[in-house]
Amino acid sequence: MKDLQIETIINQNRKPIPEADQLGFGQYFTDHMFLMDYTEGQGWHDPRIVPYQPLQLDPSCMVFHYAQTVFEGMKAYLTKDEEVLLFRPDQNFKRLNNSNDRLCIPHIDEEFALEALKQLIKLDRDWIPSAPGTSLYIRPFIISTEPHLGVHPSHNYLFIIILSPVGSYYKEGLNPVKIAVEKNYVRTVVGGTGTAKTGGNYASSLKAQEESGKVGYSQVLWLDGRENKYIEEVGSMNIFFKVNGEVITPALNGSILAGITRDSIIQLLKHWNVPVTERKISMDEVIQAYRDGLLEEAFGTGTAAVISPIGEFFYQDEKMVVNNGEIGKLSKELYDTLTGIQNGIKQDPFGWSVKL
Ligand code: COI
Repeated sequence: MKDLQIETIINQNRKPIPEADQLGFGQYFTDHMFLMDYTEGQGWHDPRIVPYQPLQLDPSCMVFHYAQTVFEGMKAYLTKDEEVLLFRPDQNFKRLNNSNDRLCIPHIDEEFALEALKQLIKLDRDWIPSAPGTSLYIRPFIISTEPHLGVHPSHNYLFIIILSPVGSYYKEGLNPVKIAVEKNYVRTVVGGTGTAKTGGNYASSLKAQEESGKVGYSQVLWLDGRENKYIEEVGSMNIFFKVNGEVITPALNGSILAGITRDSIIQLLKHWNVPVTERKISMDEVIQAYRDGLLEEAFGTGTAAVISPIGEFFYQDEKMVVNNGEIGKLSKELYDTLTGIQNGIKQDPFGWSVKL
């Protein structure tokens, strides 16, 4: 597989590249994309880079009906020396294969996928924005393409990588977001698909997000699906609390996504000798810490948002304002350090950055 040649068709109709202040998140796509097919009995084949364009798919393709699909989110950055850095891309392709396991999709060759991604980014390098807070968001994904209506793992798949220059994920940017604690809906349960990055998890989150949006909250805080008591994730991010000097995040329990930013934050805190614990945390415990004046900071972590400070929780008709609704000192230091490493401005003692 590693020896497969990637055929490249250059796009002769280049699009205008948007200005940094127009970017938003996921609205613009570069001039090329990567595609590779899977056919049962043959494996992955025909890797190619082609002009970015709509796909032609049979309406009976299994992905449209039974959502057998996985995706990843990662970023590339342009340094001040015009070098391109990827952040821990090996971890994303590894997680893609973990998601593939859960969704009965055949593994991809992780090294080959990284090589294909590098070739794609080289072609669309001019699209990587350099303004502070911007990056090139990378979306690898796999869809089941067998034209068939029976429920079984597909015999055909398409692996695609598209690229999108982005600014901040939330309109709030680094300003704290307001979160409603979700009581009626659950994201997933242990044994479900919560640890996989698959579209269905996000589809099932929309109703709660829509309802909380109507009452002024940008995202929801998910509690566990069994007892509705323990904290799992926030919106499409992992969550951290700083309580009385200690940083706490829910342990990976079989329904929480193993975030790569989550892991990086834990490693960074350990490196700084800041106490950090992964364990079960109940909403009651957070309320108690708040009432005792010990809830110092809260923030979400994810590739898209990096760090998103939380300024307010809404739970059982009560508003809990964290750190006067302002970004906390530690959250800011983590954001500056992590984005500094990603942009090549700060030293990377972990070997996370990969040069193109
Ligand atoms: C990411 O943080 O990259 C994600 O995949 C979340 C997303 C749904 C934008």
